[in-house]
Amino acid sequence: MRQAGRYLPEYRKIRAKVDFLTLCKSPELAAEVTIQPVDILGVDAAILFSDILIPIEKMGLKLRFYEKKGPKFSNPIRTQKDADKLKIINPKEDVPYVLETIRILRKALNVPLIGFSGAPFTAATYMIEGGSSKNFLKTKQIIYNDPLLFTSLMGKITQTTIDYLCAQIEAGAQAVQLFDSWAGALSPSDYEVAAFPYAKKVIEALRPLGVPIIYFVNDCPGVLSIAAGSGADVIGVDWRVDMAEAVRKVGQTITVQGNLDPCVLFSSKNYIKDMALDVIEKGKGARAHIFNLGHGVLPETPPENVKTLVKVVHEAY
Ligand code: CP3
Repeated sequence: MRQAGRYLPEYRKIRAKVDFLTLCKSPELAAEVTIQPVDILGVDAAILFSDILIPIEKMGLKLRFYEKKGPKFSNPIRTQKDADKLKIINPKEDVPYVLETIRILRKALNVPLIGFSGAPFTAATYMIEGGSSKNFLKTKQIIYNDPLLFTSLMGKITQTTIDYLCAQIEAGAQAVQLFDSWAGALSPSDYEVAAFPYAKKVIEALRPLGVPIIYFVNDCPGVLSIAAGSGADVIGVDWRVDMAEAVRKVGQTITVQGNLDPCVLFSSKNYIKDMALDVIEKGKGARAHIFNLGHGVLPETPPENVKTLVKVVHEAY
């Protein structure tokens, strides 16, 4: 999950000097903010500091991040002509800074490094909507009304995702996570057609590279049993499903990751402990369980409470 970021004063100090995209594209600085939560919190793995929108920009979209409003693409994809103009990225040429960040991190870190990408459906929502969205109406309209456009767009995104993650693994990422942050906005039958096959294709292509693959599906309850068939080693789940039920749904052949509600970090030490132990207890039914939040750390979170959580989890295992 997102574990670096604005809740850490150490991160804000660096961000005061550079904008977010510059930070993602500056290997020394990106490596520094990747390491911050490892040093400060004592977490057991580092997640590369970057953003799922970085490779999308290089496919041919104009990206800007606005304070508070988040990311915006000024030329969203709405027609076949728009999709035809997109290119499949060449990671070494198009995003060398991401690969360089990974190489720096592998020398500096003494915990495993997780690389990541958006899953194809989630990437498509940003490309079609032009930013974050509530109902994903434009994306769904294309799925329903122009399946040829949707499949040609998804083909390009899927190939970019495969090449991008292969390059991250080659540069040194020791596990990779696919973020399907908006797949839960789909009905289960739409998920099965419009999101799942593309995530599965990425996972199948990465399989020969031999690193663990984590597939995170946000807002997962309706689609969890389908996602479990993706071929991923680990299914990451958000907090909207009880961990015991998640374990029942994914079965005994897959590891689960998650799923404490990030808002619990705004409660007392005792409450944090009780809720974390509940997740840990329920995760014991799975093949294996990677303790995590059910989504990223929220910007206003008190860092002390994240430290408390890490301590509680370490003591419980
Ligand atoms: O924790 C880490 O070190 C990992 C870094 C990371 C970021 N984004 C940094 C970031 C990761 C793994 C992501 C993934 C990402 N980006 C996702 C998938 C994960 C999820 O949360 O579901 C998504 C949907 C995005 C797109 C994105 N990036 C949005 C919608 C926003 C704006 C929202 C916000 O919080 O402002 C971002 C910005 C972003 N990405 C920030 C960080 C630290 C905040 C930027 C800042 O410093 O101002």
